[in-house]
Amino acid sequence: MRFIPYSFSLLRGFSILAVCIGWMLSSLPAEAGSIDPFVLRYLDAKEPVELAVDTQGQTQLFTAKDLSEGKRLFEENCKNCHVAGTTLPNPLVPLSLEALKGATPPRDTIQSLVVFLRQPMTFDGSEEAYLCRQVPESWMSPVQVERLSAFILRSAQNAPGWGSTSF
Ligand code: HEC
Repeated sequence: MRFIPYSFSLLRGFSILAVCIGWMLSSLPAEAGSIDPFVLRYLDAKEPVELAVDTQGQTQLFTAKDLSEGKRLFEENCKNCHVAGTTLPNPLVPLSLEALKGATPPRDTIQSLVVFLRQPMTFDGSEEAYLCRQVPESWMSPVQVERLSAFILRSAQNAPGWGSTSF
């Protein structure tokens, strides 16, 4: 008869453990790499988004997850000066599609944005833009800086009010 209480307590032990694990899982923070609702709604990224990589017609697909990571990198590192695509220290050079296209050289492809971020230059390309934040390889990998660029480019194409000069 000693066997029954033993198995009973074992069962109880297991169910307590199961409840504990369930609780731990449900109280974990949102999964890393999760999808930002802004990206689905305003960047229209329910399906992967095709963006121009270069001016030769090469394109690349970016998923909602890629764009969400780009948004997170942007918010953590760029938003202070570029909230909603504006440029607070130099309002005439926002991150709008028009401004990106009008820069020398144009910055409206993934590749040209990556080149810019590795070495920010002024709008006319004549000198280094010391106020902007340089993104060296030791800080962001090529994949990360591409996702950051994809977020900027897609926001410039799609997000309402992005890159306004009137504020
Ligand atoms: C301290 C303020 C500051 C921070 C932080 C900053 N920038 Fe900038 N950024 C600027 C300024 C000022 C310019 C305009 C430079 C110029 O043309 O003189 C600029 C220009 C740019 C441009 C070019 C816009 C165009 O129309 O040609 C891009 C793209 C850009 N920044 C992206 C970023 C990204 C991405 C980050 C974060 C990694 C970042 N910036 C962080 C100040 C900042």
